[in-house]
Amino acid sequence: MKVSYHGHAVVKVEANGKTILFDPFISENGNTDLDAENVKADVILLTHGHNDHVGDTVEIAKRNDAQVVAPFELATYLGNKGVNAHPMYIGGGHEFDFGHVKFTQAFHGSSYTEEDGTIVYTGMPTGILLTIDGKTIYHAGDTGLFTDLKMIGEQNSIDLAFLPIGDNFTMGPDDALIAAEWIQAKQVVPVHYNTFELINQDGRAFAEKVRPGKGKALEPGEVIEL
Ligand code: NI
Ligand code: MN
Repeated sequence: MKVSYHGHAVVKVEANGKTILFDPFISENGNTDLDAENVKADVILLTHGHNDHVGDTVEIAKRNDAQVVAPFELATYLGNKGVNAHPMYIGGGHEFDFGHVKFTQAFHGSSYTEEDGTIVYTGMPTGILLTIDGKTIYHAGDTGLFTDLKMIGEQNSIDLAFLPIGDNFTMGPDDALIAAEWIQAKQVVPVHYNTFELINQDGRAFAEKVRPGKGKALEPGEVIEL
């Protein structure tokens, strides 16, 4: 399968003939190689409701007739906009035709800001475990460091993990290094950095500090074969 990074927290998984997008923040993302107007998706997985994660979900989902899987309130909000949304929540797993999805805890916020500035509550923030084609991918979402990452690591054999390193809103590189130890993933890719100045970080320096050979900083568009 192909797993690719597309700037900010955007991850694409191509497996079992399906294209799955995590947190497709594209049209307002200055650090992506994707074009929101022609990106393909069968499934969109959302970690939380912040605008830099929901991004172009509604347009992409409608154009592709894609299924959106999101925390309950966010799924309801998007369902009201005419999207085919499947609600889930922390601790819950579900077997889809493309693979298995389980929502995990994240320490962060979750709301969607409308164009007029109105803030809509979109529930709890989450991380997502996607098991597909025999591999488990963990997208941590936006989170600070928390010790139950150890539990997530113990309960799951994670092949590839995407961890935020941007600091300010999420873990910074030092805490993400601890998180990388705790989740025991075979490979760790830093995300949620260099999209705007406040979260500028050195992804390569972080990747080199993760246990040798396990860390990999990806340029937007770069692919990992799993
Ligand atoms: Ni966020
Ligand atoms: Mn974010």
